[in-house]
Amino acid sequence: MAKSVPAVRLSDRRGSRVVRWAVFPCLLALAAAPMQRAAAQAGGAAPKVTEQEYEGWRQYSVHCARCHGQDVLGNPVAANLLESVAPGGPAAEKEVFLKVVQQGRPPRGMPAFAGTMTPAQMEATYAYVRGRAEKRVPAGRPQRPGA
Ligand code: HEC
Repeated sequence: MAKSVPAVRLSDRRGSRVVRWAVFPCLLALAAAPMQRAAAQAGGAAPKVTEQEYEGWRQYSVHCARCHGQDVLGNPVAANLLESVAPGGPAAEKEVFLKVVQQGRPPRGMPAFAGTMTPAQMEATYAYVRGRAEKRVPAGRPQRPGA
């Protein structure tokens, strides 16, 4: 008699675990449905960026990501540009941003890019980072305009 009591509790516990695993995928499906609908309305494509922002993504990936993090997602070695370039941030103004990129901050470990990048490439990088900071441009490889 005493032996059968723990056996009953065990099966109860197993039962509730089964219920939990059944509910979880349902919740995921509920959460995914509106996103799928939004994607379908947009023609199923990733959000579009401008030609300049696309070029900026390329420049950023080549010149900046190793220190500031891929997709501007942050990296412990350098300033978080999503915060620096967000409205009101220390490098939110284009002129300030471009000056930092041109001159670097050699004592802090950031090299100058004046001899490496053209002014148009720096401006494109600003457009991309600004788009990321304003949450208009998603993380990941953006869809190439016109593609
Ligand atoms: C070798 C590493 C390195 C690379 C490459 C690099 N940076 Fe930096 N960057 C830093 C560090 C470190 C700082 C922080 C300087 C400080 O604390 O003042 C910084 C600061 C900045 C700031 C100022 C942020 C603020 O809040 O004041 C901007 C803007 C910036 N970087 C943009 C860029 C861009 C754009 C590129 C690519 C063209 C780039 N950086 C490439 C290391 C790097």
